[in-house]
Amino acid sequence: MVFDFTGKTAIVTGGSGGIGSEIARGIVAGGGHVIVTDIDDAKGEAFVKTLGKGNSYYHLDIGTPNEARATVTQILVDHPETNTLINVAGVISAKPFEEIDDAEWSRTITINLNGTFTMCSALFPHLKKIGGGRIVNVSSVAGKIGGGLLGTAAYASSKAGVNGLTKAVAKEGGKYGIACNAVCPSFTLTQMTTALNEDKTKHDKVIAMIPLGRAAQPSEPAQMVLFFASDAASFVTGEIGDCDGGIVMDG
Ligand SMILES: NC(=O)c1ccc[n+]([C@@H]2O[C@H](COP(=O)([O-])OP(=O)(O)OC[C@H]3O[C@@H](n4cnc5c(N)ncnc54)[C@H](O)[C@@H]3O)[C@@H](O)[C@H]2O)c1
Repeated sequence: MVFDFTGKTAIVTGGSGGIGSEIARGIVAGGGHVIVTDIDDAKGEAFVKTLGKGNSYYHLDIGTPNEARATVTQILVDHPETNTLINVAGVISAKPFEEIDDAEWSRTITINLNGTFTMCSALFPHLKKIGGGRIVNVSSVAGKIGGGLLGTAAYASSKAGVNGLTKAVAKEGGKYGIACNAVCPSFTLTQMTTALNEDKTKHDKVIAMIPLGRAAQPSEPAQMVLFFASDAASFVTGEIGDCDGGIVMDG
């Protein structure tokens, strides 16, 4: 399915990863432009070439706030037409609670939660100035159910924080035309879940928790992100969407 991205230019963090690259492809397929950012420069630069002209790559580590803000400033000089932010970059933390030390906790919160804050904060004044825009944060089912699939306490806490941040930005951004939504995937087949996928016992245990009985392809959560990023979701903000095969059924 292709959503219309005519006139849209989107920054995608973690844009050369499994889910991020599917999002980037979807935006280009819909007639938009993508600014892929990541820390894996070789992969990012190679990937952006496959997207064709009008798309670009920037090194941007969301875990180093001052550098990330400086890169956003440069991006906005180079691409003042930027009107969409998609926060996909993230790391997993899978240690049992009693083995999580301060360094593991801090690494996970710094990248997943603080990094998402830094990007929203760096883009907010620009989106306000241009009369609005759309932000989508890739969260996780872990943020709703306390982890338990692959991510544990630090990961679940970071993603629960992303969900709260998403709603707060939606509330304060609404009057400026800024929409902010999040997508909570569950087990998705990317590099992040290679270890889980290769451990048959753990894999089968996780699959048994998913009503649809399988893992997602990265294009599946990407589709929900693309919906939230497009004008098809013009009256949707503050929504935390589940793309998890049916694990969370709230209402
Ligand atoms: N794969 C899953 O099962 C799953 C489930 C729920 C949520 N998620 C979330 O989806 C998002 C994308 O994950 P994925 O599955 O595509 O994994 P992935 O490992 O394929 O992609 C993650 C990308 O983020 C980049 N990255 C890591 N640290 C970064 C940093 N400090 N700054 C900038 N970029 C950084 C990596 O280089 C990589 O390209 C993550 O936020 C993850 O938490 C994934």
